[in-house]
Amino acid sequence: MVKVLDALRDEHRNFSRVLEILTRQIEFFEKAEEPDYDLAEKIVEYLKIFPDLSHHPKEDLLYQKLCLRDPRTADLMGDLETEHQKLAELTSAFEIKLKNVLLDAEQPRAEFMDAANEFIDFFRSHIMLEELRFFPAALRALSAEDWREIEVNLAQSEDPIFGENIAVPYVDLRNQIYEIATEQQI
Ligand SMILES: [Fe+2]
Ligand SMILES: [Fe+2]
Repeated sequence: MVKVLDALRDEHRNFSRVLEILTRQIEFFEKAEEPDYDLAEKIVEYLKIFPDLSHHPKEDLLYQKLCLRDPRTADLMGDLETEHQKLAELTSAFEIKLKNVLLDAEQPRAEFMDAANEFIDFFRSHIMLEELRFFPAALRALSAEDWREIEVNLAQSEDPIFGENIAVPYVDLRNQIYEIATEQQI
């Protein structure tokens, strides 16, 4: 099996888990119940930093290779690099709305909900696109030499939550994620 694809799929699983936990916190907000803002803030911080540091660069390399090997399929799929930029923008936009809530700033509830839903929905559909269309297309089109070249050029950063060495600010978050994930089987 291709190592880089395994790593990308593992990361998708982790992103999906934290997105699910974030969704539940947003549902509390929607029902005017008290969400765990600290948890939500840390999840957004993680989703803002880690994907751009390690996950998207790997996919961008893969996508560039796919554009060379099978431009038609790459073209039909849409521009993944642009999707990564849009994702970064939606993450920042949601982070601002979340900070406004924490600062008690004037902000219609609907604006917060829209930013949250847009960010979470886009992230999920982006993962789906990659799992269902991008990875299979890359597997079909790339040669063993292509995969070797990608692995040599990989900038690998350790995941601060799900890696072997958890970054100190995320220790509590990781414990919480595992507790919630086990309880709710996600
Ligand atoms: Fe991606
Ligand atoms: Fe991805």
